[in-house]
Amino acid sequence: MSQDSIAAGAYAGQAASSGASRGLWTSRWAFFLAATGSAVGLGNIWKFPYITGVHGGGAFVLVYLGCILAIGIPLLMAEVMIGRAGRKNPSDAVAALAEQSGASPRWRLAGWVGGLTGFLILSFYVVVAGWALAYVPAAASGGFVGLNGESSGALFGALLADPLKLAVCASLVLLATLLIVGFGVQQGLERAVRYLMPGLFVLLLILVGYAATRGAFGQAAAFLFAADFSKLTGEAILVALGHAFFTLSLGCGAMMAYGSYLPAGTSIALTSLLVALADTAVALLAGLAIFPLVFANGLEPGAGPGLIFVTLPIAFGQMPLGQVVGVFFFVMLLIAALTSAISLSEPTIAWLTERFRISRLKAVLLSGAALWLLSLGSVFSFNLWAEGTLFGKTFFDCLDYLTTNLLMPLGGLATVFFTGWVLKRKRVSEALNIGHPALFQAWWWLIRFVTPLGIVLVFLNLIGVI
Ligand code: PHE
Repeated sequence: MSQDSIAAGAYAGQAASSGASRGLWTSRWAFFLAATGSAVGLGNIWKFPYITGVHGGGAFVLVYLGCILAIGIPLLMAEVMIGRAGRKNPSDAVAALAEQSGASPRWRLAGWVGGLTGFLILSFYVVVAGWALAYVPAAASGGFVGLNGESSGALFGALLADPLKLAVCASLVLLATLLIVGFGVQQGLERAVRYLMPGLFVLLLILVGYAATRGAFGQAAAFLFAADFSKLTGEAILVALGHAFFTLSLGCGAMMAYGSYLPAGTSIALTSLLVALADTAVALLAGLAIFPLVFANGLEPGAGPGLIFVTLPIAFGQMPLGQVVGVFFFVMLLIAALTSAISLSEPTIAWLTERFRISRLKAVLLSGAALWLLSLGSVFSFNLWAEGTLFGKTFFDCLDYLTTNLLMPLGGLATVFFTGWVLKRKRVSEALNIGHPALFQAWWWLIRFVTPLGIVLVFLNLIGVI
């Protein structure tokens, strides 16, 4: 046997035992696109601009960038590392690593809760993505022309009041998500992000170009980048921290699942950094696409959650080419949501197939049915069940609160604690393979002290203790 074939045989054995038969991304680039697709979503285009608007602009953006650096990136690296080292769905990957470090495999619960969190988020994420879907034909047919604050609010209100339309839109988004995920890692996820992500980026650049030529670009840039610290409140800092978490898809198994398909030898540190950079760039560019139009039309930047679905359509209705630009905008939002939705479902699908040894198709159908029923709950909470509340919150609000405010920070905290205090330093250093001892030391310090402290602060604030 030649040296090469021995090496190839050894590699194949290693690959099979490390779970490569589950499929791997074909390249580092594919992982980068998929992870960026997960990170870039409604959070970047819908949420980031409106929370920046509400919290006064530049200083908030600066704090947010600090949170991404000190908390988001270290945790993203930890999640991808756990996924790759365990080569399984989040729950089994955590258990495998725990055992290797002599800890209880019961730590799998942390991965399991992560998967459940992603599953629950997905059930209402498709409903919001459905709003974007409903707004594409509305924009195309000139439905925004002549809107003012009141009529635009009424248009959005009419959508929310229509259970059938909402259900159809959410179901279509869910169907598209499941269809992509059903085809597996390479044929489904990878193929989808290869086309969708460049498309999203081109649309974003067109929109920024349009805003730069037709909108109040200077005013918007000043709003986003001139830091006035007198406007910064304690609450704003915590919102920035919480958002850094959400926007990088942390604390819910998504990045762990994607990490489990990452080829050995790819630098986790570098790729995570690039994903975070791309995600931040998209959030800032989304701000630069939206605010110039808002300012140019004399509208309110601090309008809150309605910024995109109520304020922006008024601008589209007033501007030259607004019909086309409006369609581009909502298609972009839809693509961003879809590439996030597939990452939200992957942990559950991987868990079902690996734990119960069922086919991917069965796993997709099973989880799809459960997701669809849950999503109807969110749909009805805007109309038929609007009165039925728990602690003053509708079903949709309850799910949003439970996942974003409780489960995600808890999942993230469990992950950092597990990485920094339960796993053996040597095992982590091997798995991360950062190459540079000083860099590893810096990351290790962040993961053990800074990241957990940041998460505890967000958590306490969100549940109203501070
Ligand atoms: N990061 C996505 C966004 O910004 C949301 C998301 C959260 C996706 C968690 C996957 C997992 O919209």
